[in-house]
Amino acid sequence: MAKRIDGKVISKQIKDELKEEVAQLKAKGIEGSLAVIQVGNDPASSVYVNNKKKACEYIGIGSISYELPEETTEAELLDIIEDLNKREDVCGILVQLPVPKHIDEDKIIQAISPKKDVDGFHPQSVGAMTIGEPGFLSCTPAGIIQLLKRSNIEIEGKHCVVIGRSNIVGKPMALLMLRENATVTIAHSKTKNLKELCKQADILIVAIGKPKFIDESYVKEGAVVIDVGIHRNEENKLCGDVKFEKVEPHTSAITPVPGGVGPMTIAMLMNNCVESMRGQK
Ligand code: GUN
Repeated sequence: MAKRIDGKVISKQIKDELKEEVAQLKAKGIEGSLAVIQVGNDPASSVYVNNKKKACEYIGIGSISYELPEETTEAELLDIIEDLNKREDVCGILVQLPVPKHIDEDKIIQAISPKKDVDGFHPQSVGAMTIGEPGFLSCTPAGIIQLLKRSNIEIEGKHCVVIGRSNIVGKPMALLMLRENATVTIAHSKTKNLKELCKQADILIVAIGKPKFIDESYVKEGAVVIDVGIHRNEENKLCGDVKFEKVEPHTSAITPVPGGVGPMTIAMLMNNCVESMRGQK
């Protein structure tokens, strides 16, 4: 029987642990807020941003919200970030991506102080992760590691195939699995024999960005399947990159969409905020 990995339950566990820690930090006089910046009013981004603010409230940290118009210039956004970098009451700065096309995303990411880079997107954070130095970890991949560990799924020595090579998910995911002593293969749109490769995976992490792309013919009997995709199907229902109903019977464990990886991203964002408050970075 496949085990359904419940991201809602595990993310709540993590947020409850953080809530307790925040209360202890507050008792020592340590407080902090997450600055959340949204430029424009993309409805999907608004949902994510609201969920992030709600999570802050849940664990007991502040959130400072910037809802900026679409026409905001790059210079204006950089000024705001510069101010926030200096503010002692701000433990984390998050600029919701994507930003409008007239703003250089890389420039924005690099303007955020690595000490407040709770998304883990700054090149310094990525570099630190790559060589195993302390630094903020990218939230979705870090959340997947937590999902696996808290579900007692062994990573060491396993063959992990990551499909996708984005800076936000695929690349950091592969590095974190490597750090956990998995043997890692990264597959992408130019990979030959994708199906045969996936069939060799003990742990298959799917971040392709195409709805229901992976069916049972890509999955080894008894493998663990982690679905990072999130899409709306023809009936406006959420679905992932994996054909869940077809694939589930062939796995030993699988994440559903919704309720798998999604909630973990925010839990790990909160974890990074609390880490920043601890002042360990
Ligand atoms: N857009 C989609 N995912 C993310 C994320 O994890 N962080 C930010 N800042 N923007 C995103």
